[in-house]
Amino acid sequence: MWRIQVIHGPNLNLLGRREPELYGRFTLAEIDERLRGWAQEQGIEIQSIQSNHEGTLVEAIQQAADWADGLVINPGAYSHYSYAIRDAIRGVGLPAVEVHLSNIYAREPFRHQSVIAPVCVGQISGFSWHSYRLGLEALVTWLEEQTGRRREK
Ligand code: DQA
Repeated sequence: MWRIQVIHGPNLNLLGRREPELYGRFTLAEIDERLRGWAQEQGIEIQSIQSNHEGTLVEAIQQAADWADGLVINPGAYSHYSYAIRDAIRGVGLPAVEVHLSNIYAREPFRHQSVIAPVCVGQISGFSWHSYRLGLEALVTWLEEQTGRRREK
């Protein structure tokens, strides 16, 4: 069974009422529930955390190294400038996939750069809550390729 830590960054607790035309109408709890349901069918165990604080996100990444095989992370606005989150991912050495609900490349120029993406296996951006599902699929497919171990459905 693959174990994946899902991390939601700042302001994602506002989902559902925050710019729904950009981020969709699901709340974070609804996204987590859908994700958990899908993951269970796939034989993937997920733990999920949301924080508005950079240090808490850094700690969540460090703690994930004790039990998880990888990370799916939406760092929110921290994507664009948090070297602390970048260093944490590189530091623990867990494979990570960065996800965004919106297509950050179709938005304001300051969102076009992610300082996190270079330390990730890859990035999925623009598919609303499905970005998380696709990110999870991409990460587990990558883990399977690397290790030769298959998910047990
Ligand atoms: C976001 C994109 C970021 O630019 C923004 O600051 C967010 C959400 C997304 O999921 O589309 O908070 O990460």
